[in-house]
Amino acid sequence: MRLLVILSLAVVACHGSTLKHQRRFPDDFLFGTATAAYQIEGAWNEDGKGENIWDYLTHNNPTVIKNQDNGDIAADSYHNYKRDVEMMRELGLDAYRFSLSWSRILPTGLANQVNPAGIEYYNNLINEMVKYNITPMITLYHWDLPQKLQELGGFSSPLMGEWFEDYARVVFENFGDRVKMFITFNEPREICYEGYGSDTKAPILNATGVGTYLCAKNLLIAHARAYHLYDKEFRATQGGQCGITISVNWFTPATESAEDEIAAELMRQGEFGIYVHPIFSTEGGFPKELSDRIAEKSAQQGFARSRLPEFTEEEKAFVRGTFDFFGVNHYTGHLVSATEHKEIHPVPSLLDDVDAGQFYADDWPASASAWLVLAPDSIFQALSYLDKKYNKPVFYITENGWSMYEDRDLIDDDRITYYRASMESLLNCLDSGINVKGYMAWSLMDNFEWNQGYNERFGLYRVDFSDPARTRTPRKSAFVYKHIVKHRYVDY
Ligand code: NOJ
Repeated sequence: MRLLVILSLAVVACHGSTLKHQRRFPDDFLFGTATAAYQIEGAWNEDGKGENIWDYLTHNNPTVIKNQDNGDIAADSYHNYKRDVEMMRELGLDAYRFSLSWSRILPTGLANQVNPAGIEYYNNLINEMVKYNITPMITLYHWDLPQKLQELGGFSSPLMGEWFEDYARVVFENFGDRVKMFITFNEPREICYEGYGSDTKAPILNATGVGTYLCAKNLLIAHARAYHLYDKEFRATQGGQCGITISVNWFTPATESAEDEIAAELMRQGEFGIYVHPIFSTEGGFPKELSDRIAEKSAQQGFARSRLPEFTEEEKAFVRGTFDFFGVNHYTGHLVSATEHKEIHPVPSLLDDVDAGQFYADDWPASASAWLVLAPDSIFQALSYLDKKYNKPVFYITENGWSMYEDRDLIDDDRITYYRASMESLLNCLDSGINVKGYMAWSLMDNFEWNQGYNERFGLYRVDFSDPARTRTPRKSAFVYKHIVKHRYVDY
């Protein structure tokens, strides 16, 4: 307790009165934090919840996870949601982004059997937030597919569109009276590339060069079906908004050469354009240069047709324009070279078809995660690019944060440096007229960091995972963030 008082006094002491030249965030800018169901909830088999692909992976293939950790208990938010909302109040948040566990609501994934305890849990959480004027932002899918649907093919199946639409209907019907912001999917690239095109994330399908693209198409159609459902049947009565969250990290050419610029652009298309272009561009469909590249490579490899399943004209029109806002998860930056493949900090290539080298500049500070560095002004660079290329959509930064290794120390100055840099970069966006309306810090508290288990920590609050009560304690960054939220400017 004494430490906390000292920490908050130290933070307050650094902040005199607002200086005239200080740039401010608008009063209606939504400041929040984000989490995801599997990473925090625990209660993996309680009150009728069905098994999902992360339960299955961590129980059946535990060695793919650091220290063989799992999310069986995690931060136990299923039993601690009131404390979670109390933390949001301590931080003075405007909003909180959380995800629903599909298999807690529909144990098999199919909508014929709804689990009342699952609905009740989310009702309680939402009501608690609404009581304190905290805007709920719901992600329908943050990586935890019901295992039964995986057994039926998961995102490899074109039926995903129907399964997801039926689930979305249950969500809109039950929560749409109080929740006005829905995000269909969190990070399609990670779902598709890491889950289907490689062997990192559940369901570790590892169908190199094929799985990613099959998943991409089925996921985009599923997103569009949920969007159209909301638009046609719920928007008029509920008055909310529906969008998607895509991870957009920034890719800078390593030199000014034309080859590096071309390589960086192809990398952007492969990393995020493949998901962004079908929804946000005026013409729709996959980005042309990327689909040409995949078709060419497929032919060289002896395939009779491209490994990228193209959209029909009708499908293109169905997916195009299915957004009210663009959720961006942004964390890091990369340098891209057409020729150089550095061994230092190589970024694991996400693409089966873009051969460029990716690496970090030597002076970009490193986090505990191999993929995460502090690259200069990268939020601004990413959003300016998207803003120009995709006709000025409304943006929310739906995730951004910094990992450190666990120690009992609550002084996380590196995380504070990162958050301040992010705030400056966001203010650059606002100054240049980019319509960014909110920012969700990842994360409210420490949680299960997927393949890294509990080894890499992102929380503003530390969670003690050795304590059955999963006690949460604010780090120094929590006090700094609280100040930013309250005063709407960054100070040092
Ligand atoms: C993005 C993912 O959405 C989230 O689940 C993950 O924990 C963070 N990045 C940090 O890796």
